[in-house]
Amino acid sequence: MKSITEFQEFKQKGRPISMVTCYDYLSARMISQSDIDAVLVGDSAAMVMHGFRNTVNAGLEMMEFHVSAVARGLAGNLIVADMPFLSHLKGKLPLMEGVDRLMKAGANAVKIEGAGLTAKAISYLVKSDVPVMGHLGLTPQSVNKFGGFRLQGKENGQRTRIMEDARILEDAGVFAIVLEMIPADLAGEITRSITVPTIGIGAGNGTSGQILVWHDLLGMNPGFEPRFVRKYIDGASMIKNALNQYNADIKAGSFPAQKESY
Ligand code: KIV
Repeated sequence: MKSITEFQEFKQKGRPISMVTCYDYLSARMISQSDIDAVLVGDSAAMVMHGFRNTVNAGLEMMEFHVSAVARGLAGNLIVADMPFLSHLKGKLPLMEGVDRLMKAGANAVKIEGAGLTAKAISYLVKSDVPVMGHLGLTPQSVNKFGGFRLQGKENGQRTRIMEDARILEDAGVFAIVLEMIPADLAGEITRSITVPTIGIGAGNGTSGQILVWHDLLGMNPGFEPRFVRKYIDGASMIKNALNQYNADIKAGSFPAQKESY
């Protein structure tokens, strides 16, 4: 079982951390047979599993449902769960109830986007012994403020803000910070200037680790091919070919064969 203390050691030793998102039981079982260090049950579930346009629609019930499915399939990988949009800003009781539900569903840690107002909630959780991962740069829950999924930290003002936010999150006690879609040199600078590990997505290779969305790295989302994604297989074409072959076999009367019948 990878733990948050190992995350810290990995950064100190310069050993990169590998993460992938996961939302369901069978994918979790595949991940548990791989060398991946940790999984994120991301609120990207709202988009890739449920077809919403952004992550604002991921509620606590949705997250709890996916966390419990993933937890049943994993044996030993660290599970981080996303706190839904605004759920950490509705007061202490709803915050604690939300975290409690996700951790009882199987999460070992939660991830919360942003600094600012969020830092207080993070600090309170950390003091309550809840491991928290931060998330800066393109924080997808702020898509309406950003006007789209755009690179952040290009201008000097934004750069300084993200840098300061990373320090604020470190002070609040996060065990790691996701840096999403920011220039590689900024991500490298942040990684060098704080002690906690950084996990990049679209943030170059100067971070302490990387995360990709399951469907992106497996090529399951045709038409979504941002520059930061490396497609390890063309899953969508493989599945389409398999479905068409199945269809052709049925039409040709060759499926099921005798050995597939009782
Ligand atoms: O929800 C998610 O998948 C994420 C990753 C992109 C880091 O937050």
